[in-house]
Amino acid sequence: MSTTPSRGMWSSRAGFILAAAGSAVGLGNIWGFPTQVGQGGGAAFVVVYLACILLICAPIMAGEIALGRRTRLSPVGSFAALAPGTRWWLAGGLGVLAGVGILSFYSVIAGWAVAYVWFTATGAVTGSPEDIGRFFAEFTGNGVLSAGLALFVIVTTAAVLLGGVRAGIERVTKALMPLLVLLMIGLAVRAVTLPGAGAGLAYYLSPDLTRLADITVFTSALGQAFFSLSLGMGCILTYGSYFPRQDGIASSALWIVALDTSIALLAGFIIFPVGFSIAGFDPTTSGPGLIFTVLPRLFAELPGGQLFGGGFFLLLSVAALTSTISLLEVPVSHCVDALRWSRTKAVCAVAALIFVLSIPSALGNGAVALFTAVPGFGIGFLDLMVNAWNEFALPIGGCLTAIFIGRIWGVGGALDELRAEGAWFPAPALWTFLIRWICPAAIALILLVTLASML
Ligand code: TRP
Repeated sequence: MSTTPSRGMWSSRAGFILAAAGSAVGLGNIWGFPTQVGQGGGAAFVVVYLACILLICAPIMAGEIALGRRTRLSPVGSFAALAPGTRWWLAGGLGVLAGVGILSFYSVIAGWAVAYVWFTATGAVTGSPEDIGRFFAEFTGNGVLSAGLALFVIVTTAAVLLGGVRAGIERVTKALMPLLVLLMIGLAVRAVTLPGAGAGLAYYLSPDLTRLADITVFTSALGQAFFSLSLGMGCILTYGSYFPRQDGIASSALWIVALDTSIALLAGFIIFPVGFSIAGFDPTTSGPGLIFTVLPRLFAELPGGQLFGGGFFLLLSVAALTSTISLLEVPVSHCVDALRWSRTKAVCAVAALIFVLSIPSALGNGAVALFTAVPGFGIGFLDLMVNAWNEFALPIGGCLTAIFIGRIWGVGGALDELRAEGAWFPAPALWTFLIRWICPAAIALILLVTLASML
């Protein structure tokens, strides 16, 4: 298979792991995961989430990398190359759309994180939990400000992408991710020793199994698992297309899954103990503001809190940036590969489109709930976007990817790629069973029951 001339290559397997982990680790772990745990009822959600990661997402992760490396193409091209003359390229097309859609709301939240670097470092957001909550409501109530911050995130992302694959992405990730993990460990240690933290830990760690009767726990855990691992839209596939042939896929995939999941779990060990140390805290009602209203409370209590707070939101912003880079990369490389656009033209056009689409999310949070007249839609536009892309588009994309790998490309071809050059690949029979049966069936079942429950 020929390689597109503009395609770079990771310098090493470690380079790929860092870049893919940079894609995976982001707002999904630190903002999304605690928010979803809060809405999904605590530890029961965590159990379902971990099951989705192990049984559904990890096998698909290996499959996506293999698909990208086999074809050395972006999603639409990959599906088309292995199933010529069919409509399978549409599965890649869904991924391109999802990249644009997710980035349209992701850039808004990332913009908030950037603003909170300033707010926490200057001590603008401190005081009682009520003050901090009011501050967040007023800040996000200003939709024009949120849109401006989203624009800043999108322009920064576009600028990094124009710097090229390796130089742009690898360097940033390598330097700062370990620092984020260290800071989070320190914050978690402080959080679990706060008075009242025990209630938070109980909420987070001891599952109320009656929650498992609620299908929305499964839908949101599945969507969150795909979102956090950057799966189901050809993002990891695209990164896999730059992966050297002589390196092992399975071990890389497992590293990324382990790292991403550990960081999400760590975020929970900060948010819930701090949250429950605040009188009257209710994790179910906090929504997208959860981390922005809980964390400043921790920083307000901590000696040197302005420094730690500013540092935390700065590292979170960088983690978000390595994720937005990977999200923008999918539609951009599609335009380069399929439409033969120059990289510069593709980056500018796609970034402009995403900014326009981000405006409703920037305006539609907090005060402005759109479609309030339609039953079930009395939520912010932002929540609507999160639900539509994470809980439907990504699992559908993942389901199609699993069917494609298991039955169209075929497990034989996929296993050849996964075990190329004698690479370590554990339990091929188990992987085959998961990718052919469990992944498609479990995703389809969860989506169908969800749809049925909405009628
Ligand atoms: N995984 C990232 C996060 O957790 C977000 C992200 C980056 C993503 N690329 C993606 C989500 C591709 C879905 C698909 O913040």
